[in-house]
Amino acid sequence: MTTVLKLKNISKEFIEPRRNIVALNKINLELSDGQCIGLLGPSGSGKSTLLQIAGLLDTPTNGEIIINGEKCNTLSQEKKNLIRKKYIGFIYQNFYLLDSFSALENIIIPQLINGSTYKSAKKKALNLLSNIGLSKRIDNKPRELSGGEKQRVAILRAIANTPKIILADEPTGNLDKKNSENVIKIIKDLVSHYKISFIVATHNLSIVKKFDKIIKLSEGKLI
Ligand SMILES: Nc1ncnc2c1ncn2[C@@H]1O[C@H](COP(=O)(O)OP(=O)(O)OP(=O)(O)O)[C@@H](O)[C@H]1O
Ligand SMILES: [Mg+2]
Repeated sequence: MTTVLKLKNISKEFIEPRRNIVALNKINLELSDGQCIGLLGPSGSGKSTLLQIAGLLDTPTNGEIIINGEKCNTLSQEKKNLIRKKYIGFIYQNFYLLDSFSALENIIIPQLINGSTYKSAKKKALNLLSNIGLSKRIDNKPRELSGGEKQRVAILRAIANTPKIILADEPTGNLDKKNSENVIKIIKDLVSHYKISFIVATHNLSIVKKFDKIIKLSEGKLI
């Protein structure tokens, strides 16, 4: 199996006036092709910090990030942006869809940014939306969609450019049990269909039970 993401000895310290916060303490982690890792841990244990660093949105104080074989720490911001665009998708608890655009447009736009033609982007978006039962909601704006529907659109947006890795931060945090299970099922289907690798951070043990591997953070350490 190929390793798509490797974190070596990652530490992150936030400098604060009163005391420094060690958000991550010597984290080692390997994510392989098509693997789905659940990242558990209580509030403040460092889950979001870990995903931000893995996705090159934040820099570690120490340690190395290797994405698809490439060492990323010392790359220019421009090169980091390119790697992020090419390999990584994000899903958040609060969806972060574009409010003035329809569900369909929310999935078309990232593809256009990535260089697709409008025609092929639309075809792919329609296809994806129909696969997860949203064909009737394509023209609706995010505010007209339910929480579960919004999260499904957000997942499609994250996979629209078929990234290798998806980093999901509490993707079911705003959803009820039924919608949460649905989101997890979609994630599992994507893993097997596109061989996308996932790291899913959550408080909720029942969400990650079905994943390949579960890791647990406690006060910035993997245990
Ligand atoms: N930008 C920042 N500046 C200072 N401290 C921060 C910053 N971001 C996070 N922290 C601190 O780092 C620690 C880890 O935070 P993080 O957001 O990674 O936790 P989490 O596991 O995602 O928590 P939650 O489950 O509540 O989302 C916390 O003590 C937090 O207060
Ligand atoms: Mg968090």
